Amino acid sequence: MNDQGAPVVGLHNVTVRHGGVVVLEDVNLAVNRTDFVAIIGPNGAGKTTLLKVILGLVAPSSGEVLVFGKPPNELGSERAKIGYVPQITSIDLRFPISVFEAVLMGTYGRLGVGARPTKAEREAAHRALDRVGAADLAGKPIGRLSAGQRQRVFIARALVDDPELLLLDEPTTGVDTAAAAGFYTLLRQLKQDGLTIILVSHDIGVVASYVDSVACLNRFLFAHCRPDEIQCTEALRAMYGCDVAYLHHGEAPHIVVEEHK
Ligand SMILES: Nc1ncnc2c1ncn2[C@@H]1O[C@H](COP(=O)(O)OP(=O)(O)O)[C@@H](O)[C@H]1O
Ligand SMILES: [Mg+2]
Repeated sequence: MNDQGAPVVGLHNVTVRHGGVVVLEDVNLAVNRTDFVAIIGPNGAGKTTLLKVILGLVAPSSGEVLVFGKPPNELGSERAKIGYVPQITSIDLRFPISVFEAVLMGTYGRLGVGARPTKAEREAAHRALDRVGAADLAGKPIGRLSAGQRQRVFIARALVDDPELLLLDEPTTGVDTAAAAGFYTLLRQLKQDGLTIILVSHDIGVVASYVDSVACLNRFLFAHCRPDEIQCTEALRAMYGCDVAYLHHGEAPHIVVEEHK
């Protein structure tokens, strides 16, 4: 949350309704260049909706959204500056394609309908796989990967057009603890390389060790602060209906959420 000029993403009093139901209410959020932000909240909190608002896929009923200084649906070719890793569905895994082909699909946006990838796109796909440490997986069928490998490949697909902003929706669902740690370390590296990252998770215990800031969402945005500054115990309690213990392990702050007995 350092001051580096205009935010990459700015939400101002954003309210979203689905049908008659208010899903996001009066949300304000500023994300600056190279920030690594986790949006946390329980199921149904509006996390995916918030990402879709940033992508311009969902229009707020009131409020203002600016991405790279513009409303998302006015970005035009600048849309390529946003990489998106959606919440995974089983349908993705039934596509009988290789890892390399999946990553190459990330270039279809710039190519346009019907155009075939050239050497430049194929090289970009190889570079993206290299960048996430998955070059050795290129020839494997996408359905044969472990959950951790799969998520690296989906990040490669999102990186292939060299975005400046990366949005990830629950990327570590089904990924074991060791693979998740490697995955977050990769995201930190991408941040060091200059990317701005917004990650949606319901796994606050793990993400707090890696991100610069945490935004607690449950229809309202309760707090947006450094993980070690979280004073939103009451907010977390309101969100999760559970007791929240806040521990420090060495330098890495760590939040533990206990289930209500
Ligand atoms: N397209 C839609 N139409 C109607 N309701 C929706 C739609 N998308 C999401 N919702 C509702 O909005 C709320 C927030 O959903 P979502 O953003 O997916 O939450 P999260 O990602 O935090 O689980 C939920 O109650 C969900 O049922
Ligand atoms: Mg979701």
